[in-house]
Amino acid sequence: MPFRVRQKDLKQFFRSLLKHSIRGLNVTIPHKQAVIPFMHSLSREARAIGAVNTITIKNKTFYGHNTDGKGYITSLAQQAKLSVSNKRVLLLGAGGAARAILVALGMEKTKSVHVANRTANKAFELILQMDKRFPQTKFSASSLEDIKTTVWTSCDLVVNTTSMGMKGSNYLSLPLSKLSAQAVVSDIVYTPLETPLLKNAKKLGLKTHPGWGMLLYQGALSFQLWTGKKAPLKIMQKALLEALKK
Ligand code: ATR
Repeated sequence: MPFRVRQKDLKQFFRSLLKHSIRGLNVTIPHKQAVIPFMHSLSREARAIGAVNTITIKNKTFYGHNTDGKGYITSLAQQAKLSVSNKRVLLLGAGGAARAILVALGMEKTKSVHVANRTANKAFELILQMDKRFPQTKFSASSLEDIKTTVWTSCDLVVNTTSMGMKGSNYLSLPLSKLSAQAVVSDIVYTPLETPLLKNAKKLGLKTHPGWGMLLYQGALSFQLWTGKKAPLKIMQKALLEALKK
């Protein structure tokens, strides 16, 4: 059931939720941060990311979770067979999605993450916060243009969290040929299903990881939180891909 809620009506919305036997809900843009004051408890992920995408309700209590980052890591492990612990990552972008993935990478004890963003300052701000939370991971930052060659040649995973390549938007060409043959190229953009970044990586014979994976697995993790049951992944994947192809 979709609920369209204005920010000014959130208080009333949460009050009315308690009158119905609803076990939980997803939250999406633009309310992922605005719902936080209404939560009685936040998971470690939701607290670190500073955003909630999943709410569970039990005994009139609201629990805020965030399955975006874990969804990404699970999708990467399942679909690209890549475990990020002790790996080197190049992350493009410094927005909300980048933050969710950075927290998940920190929790998985990734060896190093270089954050590159069009607005370099935002990348530096983000790594300052991550540095404090995850001392086991080495964080660095730069603008998109100033990524050092050694970052490209040594990384195990490149992940694009910017809207570059999304339907109709500009795409900055990246020096993917500098990557090692084992590197995985991942894009969280899922419209189109095969983004220019993934197309270019495939042409170079690199392993790719599509954006719909994160969407699928964050949903599967939410399903698990609400029901305590394993999500019907195959059915969800079929429905998701059918909807995205339309
Ligand atoms: P989301 O919640 O999906 O992460 P966001 O918080 O608005 O969305 O972040 C969008 C990201 O895409 C930012 O890193 C943004 O870069 P800036 O911080 O410089 O704005 C990046 N982005 C958007 N359009 C871009 C483009 N054409 N080229 C490069 N980066 C782009």
